[in-house]
Amino acid sequence: MVDNKKVLFSAMQATGNLTLGNYLGALKNWVNLCDEYECFYSVANLHSITVRQDPAAFRKKNREILTLFLAAGIDPVKNCIYYQSQVSAHAELAWILNCYTYMGELSRMTQFKDKSAKHADNINAGLFTYPVLMAADILLFQADVVPVGKDQLQHLEITRDIAQRFNQIYGDVFTVPEPYIGKSGARIMSLQDPEHKMSKSDENPNGSIYLIDDPDTIIRKFKRAVTDSEGCVRYSENQPGISNLIDIYSACTGKSAADIEKEFDGKGYGDFKLAVGEAVVDVLKPLQERYADLSKNKDYLDGIIKENAEKASYFANKTLRKVQKKVGFPEIIR
Ligand code: TRP
Repeated sequence: MVDNKKVLFSAMQATGNLTLGNYLGALKNWVNLCDEYECFYSVANLHSITVRQDPAAFRKKNREILTLFLAAGIDPVKNCIYYQSQVSAHAELAWILNCYTYMGELSRMTQFKDKSAKHADNINAGLFTYPVLMAADILLFQADVVPVGKDQLQHLEITRDIAQRFNQIYGDVFTVPEPYIGKSGARIMSLQDPEHKMSKSDENPNGSIYLIDDPDTIIRKFKRAVTDSEGCVRYSENQPGISNLIDIYSACTGKSAADIEKEFDGKGYGDFKLAVGEAVVDVLKPLQERYADLSKNKDYLDGIIKENAEKASYFANKTLRKVQKKVGFPEIIR
């Protein structure tokens, strides 16, 4: 699209606290993708209101997450980082795509089933059509690739189905996106329940390291991390807790699991947990310093938000107009 680069789109919801898992598994790897792709990263705040949000806390959270994208090192000139809600084409295309999506296929989405079980008092239509809004996000930018976690693959699959269905009726309107298969990020598990992914919506704060946790909190959480019974630092299926800590230490230091086992040969879990905690503190330090700087610099941040939203709108509107024309809507009035 631009400089003949392929387009990459991804997004994160504006809820919860971004975790070390989000950083090592996604953000850190997003930083360099702009060399190869034209990258769009959205704070998916329209998706967030499928669950009830407190307006004041939500407003702050939106800004916190966008600021953390920048603090993680994603360059806002080489990439486009923006709030989904500021680009109205998302909602407009989502409506159109709703009319090309079947109740049956949405009913099969596992995330819908999980979320409606979890929020049984508020199973709203937005929760049901959530994947259609995701499809609109991706298709608006004619994205070639989408880096997503396993839990979102089904949503990418339905995006492809919707795109192909639309293209079949109207000709080549949308690029049909593929999952991004690149150097995959580390898959970090909960410190309290290493069988489950570290999650920003986990209710137990001790299971996750938040990107804005201070050093003492980080060390404390690692000291409390669940370990196993072998008593030695060894990577093994039988030691999910220790294996997770080895993965974290490896992602932070670049050392291999074998080297780490050697380094801590004959040492106990206590020494190892402290070392992992310190490695994480070191990795997050520059991010936290940038976060503090950016948070103080309101005008600079506001400028970036505005420029990036305009850039996103420009590309998104191009696709939206094309779609409107194909469907047969009258021309837009400016
Ligand atoms: N639903 C995604 C999540 O919870 C966030 C998201 C919204 C997204 N739109 C997207 C991810 C488009 C990839 C592409 O993680």
